[in-house]
Formats: sequence, C-alpha cells, structure tokens
Amino acid sequence: MRKLSVAVMGATGVVGQRICSMLADHPWFEVSTLTGRTSAGKRYGEVVNWLLPTGVPESLVNIRVEPTEPERVEADLVLSALPSAAAREIEPRFAEEGFPVVSNASAHRMEADVPLVVPEVNPEHVELVEAQRRGRGWEGFIATDPNCSTINLVLALKPLHDLLTIKKVIVTTMQAVSGAGYPGVPSLSIIDNVIPYIEREEEKMQRETLKILGRLEGEKVKEASFSVAASCNRVPTLDGHLETVYLEAEEEVDLEEVREALRGFRGLPQELGLPTAPENPIILREERDRPQTRLDRMAGSVPGMSVTVGRLRPGIDERSLQFVLLGHNTIRGAAGCAILLAELLRAQGWI
Ligand SMILES: NC(=O)c1ccc[n+]([C@@H]2O[C@H](COP(=O)([O-])OP(=O)(O)OC[C@H]3O[C@@H](n4cnc5c(N)ncnc54)[C@H](OP(=O)(O)O)[C@@H]3O)[C@@H](O)[C@H]2O)c1
Repeated sequence: MRKLSVAVMGATGVVGQRICSMLADHPWFEVSTLTGRTSAGKRYGEVVNWLLPTGVPESLVNIRVEPTEPERVEADLVLSALPSAAAREIEPRFAEEGFPVVSNASAHRMEADVPLVVPEVNPEHVELVEAQRRGRGWEGFIATDPNCSTINLVLALKPLHDLLTIKKVIVTTMQAVSGAGYPGVPSLSIIDNVIPYIEREEEKMQRETLKILGRLEGEKVKEASFSVAASCNRVPTLDGHLETVYLEAEEEVDLEEVREALRGFRGLPQELGLPTAPENPIILREERDRPQTRLDRMAGSVPGMSVTVGRLRPGIDERSLQFVLLGHNTIRGAAGCAILLAELLRAQGWI
C-alpha cells in the first residue's frame, strides 16, 4: 500500500510537533509538507522550538516551512494544528481546493455538517462528510476531533452511555500547561498556583460532549439529551488532563456492571486494527490513589492513547457514581486522536 503524503498545518506548535513525532515511523502516512505563519520560509529544524524528548524527526530537519496556503501544499491529506481563528478562515479554503482536512481546532466542530469524532466513540458520524461535500460543493472536506478534555471524558462516558440512561454529568478538570500551546500560560502565573478559569473550555466540554454522544439520524446528529456541567482549572503539570466526574443516571447503578463495561470497552479502531489504536482505549485501575498525572499519562499499548479511569465509587445515592480519569492532552487529546481519525477515514475509503 502506497503511503499517503500528509501536510501538517501549524507544524511548529505543541500539537504540530506531536503530530510530526507520531508520524515519524507511521506505516500509512508520511509527512511531506509543513506549514506555519512566522516560521514560513525557514528550515524546520532551525525554526522549531522542539519540546519533546525525542529529537526532531530526521526526515523533517531540512524541510522548508511553507506559508499556509493551498497552492503551496501538495499532499493527499492535511492535518491541521492551527489556532481556531486561523482555522476558521484557512481550513475551508483547503477543503474547497480538494484536500481532506482533519482538524484539531475548535473553529468548525459544532457546524451541523462537520463530523466531530472520537473514533472509538462515534465513528459513524464521519458519514456527515457526504452531506458536507454535497452541500458546500467541495471535493475535499473538514473532519474534526474534539477539545482535549472532551475527548478523554467521552471515551470514559461511552460505555456508560451504552449501559445506563445518563441524566447528568458534572466534571471538574485539572489541565496541564501544554494544553495552552506554546508559550502558553506565563510561568509567573502558573508555578505554585492553580487558575480556576480556561477561556471557553467549559462551554466546549458541555456542547461537544452532547454532539459526540448524539445519534446520527439521516444527515443530522441528534444530540444526547443529558446535562453536562464542567469546571475547568489550569494546574502546574506539563502534560495530562485529570478529570473528576460525578454521574447521575435514571436507573440504579451496579458498580460491578460499570467496571465490566469500562474494562471490556473496544471500538471500531480496535476491530479494524488501525495503527494508532491502543488495545484498550480505557484502562481501569483499582488502587485507591490512581490515576495520577505523572504515572499514567503515557499508559496503554500505544503510549498516551489510552484513558486511565480509577477511584470508581458510588455517588450520593444508588443512582449515581463517581470516578477520576486521566488522558494525555496532546496525544489522545489532540495529535493521536486526529491521526486515528485520519486512519479511520482512510480505512473506510473517505481518503
Ligand atoms: N495543546 C493542546 O493540548 C491541544 C489539544 C487539543 C486541541 N488543541 C488545538 O490545536 C490547535 C493548535 O494548538 P497548539 O497548542 O499546538 O498551539 P501553538 O503551540 O500556539 O501552535 C500554533 C501553530 O499555528 C501556527 N499559526 C498560528 N497562526 C497562524 C496563521 N494565521 N496561519 C498559519 N499558521 C499559524 C503557528 O505557526 P508559526 O510558529 O509559524 O507562527 C504554530 O505552528 C489549536 O486550535 C488548539 O486549540 C490543542
């Protein structure tokens, strides 16, 4: 099988770097083009402020970064790690020019004809691509992955949503600094501190969760009908978002059934054996003090692609439960989820 060529938009950023590093030895995809704004025209190896312990992939060191314009890009597929404001304007131009765009940005996630997908949770939503192409007259398309905290939350909620009638979810996040990109939160604001506010994060978690767990009916997603309240905090960890979850259901909750549902959960990517799919999307831990950010963020057979769930316990009555989850924000929460989505699109013939 010929490898597909990939253009990474926003290649110097936190997510762009993670995409480049995860694609370094990818069996299906090969990075052919890197784009940026201030870095355009310079050699990637010189201009990138590389933040990962593995070095800049050898094949990318001497690539010249291109301006983010469709006419400067030759690729079978575009992975976008642009800031939302830039993505709003740039991604449709690429889709119009015939590129399949898989985006990490929030700009188009909630548009009715744009799939918002975590491949294990709602792979069937990729079918929205059909209506998008027809409606907009595009040869290409935009498919998106959710906000980093939302991806981790919906992975843990999916088997529970299948098992129970969820009424209410209340989630509090403790989000790492890498979630804010580079340079992100000033060190004087975050060291020795917790900041109880992340702009627009709570709204994203609340809205995106219901779209992802919604049902595809014809060419529309009927959103899930439970309510979600989120409180998002920035904490001084580097990578990994920890989330405490309180869930209320219509019926009585059997914790043993919940344990089994979480442990046994597999999705289409596992069935298809996609290269970036971890064997277990959810890892359930029984220790009283896990998951922990530093210990569990790289968990799983594909490091950083599994969400770790722990501290599963009853809520305030027999119809509720509580747990803690942890997921790597730039791997499962961004680059890895986008790559997995691109793999799914390829496996199903959309690319
Ligand atoms: N960090 C996370 O954990 C995370 C998780 C999920 C989703 N996301 C989303 O992923 C996207 C990227 O986040 P990030 O954290 O990687 O941000 P970042 O570190 O700030 O990187 C931004 C990248 O976008 C490029 N860029 C900025 N403005 C541009 C423009 N007008 N035209 C073309 N390129 C432009 C920059 O290129 P130059 O260096 O060349 O200027 C840089 O490569 C955002 O939409 C973010 O919300 C991030």
